Amino acid sequence: MGIEVCATDWSSNAEGKPFAHHFEAIDLKDKEKTLQWALEHQINGVLTAADIGVPTAAYVAEKMGLRYHSELLALRATNKYAMRQHALKIALPGPEFYCVSSDTEAIISAEKQGFPLLVKPVDSQSSRGVSVVNNKEELLLKFSEAMQASISGRVMLEEMMTGTEGSVEALVHEGKPYILGICDKIKSALPYRYDLELNYPGSYSPSQQSSIIEFVGKLVTGFEIKNGVIHIEIMVTGDKVQLIEFAVRGCGSKVITHLMPAMNAFDVMGWVIENAFQTVPAPIFRSGGAGVLKFIMLSSGRISKLHGIEAMKNSEGVLDADLERKEGDVLGVVADGRSRPGYLLALAENREALNQTVQNALNKLEVVIV
Ligand SMILES: Nc1ncnc2c1ncn2[C@@H]1O[C@H](COP(=O)(O)OP(=O)(O)O)[C@@H](O)[C@H]1O
Ligand SMILES: [Mg+2]
Repeated sequence: MGIEVCATDWSSNAEGKPFAHHFEAIDLKDKEKTLQWALEHQINGVLTAADIGVPTAAYVAEKMGLRYHSELLALRATNKYAMRQHALKIALPGPEFYCVSSDTEAIISAEKQGFPLLVKPVDSQSSRGVSVVNNKEELLLKFSEAMQASISGRVMLEEMMTGTEGSVEALVHEGKPYILGICDKIKSALPYRYDLELNYPGSYSPSQQSSIIEFVGKLVTGFEIKNGVIHIEIMVTGDKVQLIEFAVRGCGSKVITHLMPAMNAFDVMGWVIENAFQTVPAPIFRSGGAGVLKFIMLSSGRISKLHGIEAMKNSEGVLDADLERKEGDVLGVVADGRSRPGYLLALAENREALNQTVQNALNKLEVVIV
């Protein structure tokens, strides 16, 4: 695109480092250092793909007069308490919630709310420290796990919503959402809550679909999101749609960079990048077919045999796949999204054909665990 790229990451071995023209190991949370470096390079656009970088990107944009989300939106999109408070204010449906900073407060709050409860850090991602608890003992245990994952030292206790979970990928242009995809999800077994599968298009009835579309519109207007890419996680119960959380970045695991572009025949990230610099035309795309992101899970134990990764990747309909494990690796319990061993992205004409595509690809994989 002819853009000179300055990239930062806390790690001096960041995967993206070789792709950037300039790289500096700066913690994405470090607003001042990032600003200083951005000023040195006189950047004229800013972007981040990670929630943790959103407040910093907004700070830099504000100081340098660049096109990005406001600092207020950046806070509301990354701090689950600020998000819930504003959602309540704009009457966007969601669970009852409390924010606590000690186990004593957690117990008092749980007594008011009743069990089961969802415990999670106010400001973390990837389901880190997220659990469902059914009683006081579980609460105390999981509260401390959530606390460890919380940057600000605060934890949310939420009413546990039930229904079908889904997420929405959308581009926002001049305050208007353009939906790239809506999925339904398969989640991990309790007590953890990470994703196992995202299926597009989600199986929702026409009235559920219109509720979801209406919900997205209300969120974009109520949070005053002007431009950029958004990712919204929802709970659908009958025709009722509730907010799990949203982000002002695209869905990870290559959904926004690979699956959405393929399903919509549209250069999603090209649009997002151009939008970082200047006003762009509204995105025009035509969605079609079915797509899936499936996480490949393995049971606990030692991998004694692992074959067929390349064959799985080359299987018909597979957009991308990997299994980042090798023979001899010892696998433990997967408690959050970061330690899922592999993934598969695939496309087909419809969801039925997609199931077959996924099965065919997975059949090429031979894993023995002892
Ligand atoms: N109030 C809730 N009721 C039911 N499930 C929830 C609730 N809050 C979170 N979850 C579940 O936990 C998962 C992780 O929580 P989330 O708020 O999305 O945090 P993270 O930033 O770690 O993704 C969600 O995808 C959802 O499955
Ligand atoms: Mg989430």
